[in-house]
Amino acid sequence: MTYRARPEDGIVWITGASSGIGRAVALEMVRRGFRVAVSARRSEELVALAGEAPEGRILPAPCDVTNADAVLQTVEHIEREHGPVTLAFLNAGTYKPVSIEPFVLKDWQTMFDVNIDGVLTGLNAVLPRFLARGKGQLAINASVAGYGPLPRAAVYGATKAALIHMAGSLQFDCTPKNITVQVVCPGFVETPLTAKNDHPMPFIIPVDDAARRICHGFAEGGFEIAFPRRMKWLLKAINLLPWPAYFWLVGKGTAGSR
Ligand SMILES: NC(=O)c1ccc[n+]([C@@H]2O[C@H](COP(=O)([O-])OP(=O)(O)OC[C@H]3O[C@@H](n4cnc5c(N)ncnc54)[C@H](OP(=O)(O)O)[C@@H]3O)[C@@H](O)[C@H]2O)c1
Repeated sequence: MTYRARPEDGIVWITGASSGIGRAVALEMVRRGFRVAVSARRSEELVALAGEAPEGRILPAPCDVTNADAVLQTVEHIEREHGPVTLAFLNAGTYKPVSIEPFVLKDWQTMFDVNIDGVLTGLNAVLPRFLARGKGQLAINASVAGYGPLPRAAVYGATKAALIHMAGSLQFDCTPKNITVQVVCPGFVETPLTAKNDHPMPFIIPVDDAARRICHGFAEGGFEIAFPRRMKWLLKAINLLPWPAYFWLVGKGTAGSR
């Protein structure tokens, strides 16, 4: 069994913690006894979040995850001031349904910048530290949307599929080094990110529920933390179908929402 973070070992670091899942996971980890460094661009939201926890349990560490130097400096600062990062939850992400008409290149590129580069900058900052210490826990927030193609999700789904693949490959490379790698694959969760959806969101769950499931998964240490189970298995099963059947079924299931 590889390393599992314990409160007495150091700090949990969460990116994208100014709202939604990252914010709720920060509070849940505090409830479980951890001190948590929280990053995002909106520092005022991070300060407000810190105010919701006992003094010194949530440590604002604002940065833009697309800026590799800023992320490196942020992690250096966290470790210098507060102690070693033991668990990194690379959660920052962005989502916008895309259309092909008009094709807005900026929308497509922004999702790759935040969802992919924003994870690479985190890996660049924490992996050398985990390797030097011979232990660490790393969790990447992907999505069940990464399991297979969905309408209007050409970029978002592609970034999340890439993260699932990346985490799986890292699992091979990191396990011998006593670094636990996990991929988080939520279905629909009530957050500002999904509030902009105007289509039905089957099996959607409250953000606090999602946070409890994620933190339970951190403690368990299994590779995939995916929920709700109905959504996970439905999509996994559909993705076993041959392409013509897949396109027919997903097309039929999403026809009303396109
Ligand atoms: N909600 C869902 O149903 C759902 C389902 C599956 C997966 N996910 C994934 O869960 C993660 C969190 O999403 P959420 O639903 O909690 O959405 P959210 O409430 O919109 O949170 C997104 C977070 O990412 C941060 N962020 C965005 N761009 C950033 C940047 N350049 N640098 C630093 N931080 C940045 C935002 O903070 P700032 O704006 O302050 O920078 C915010 O804290 C995402 O990776 C998302 O893809 C969500």
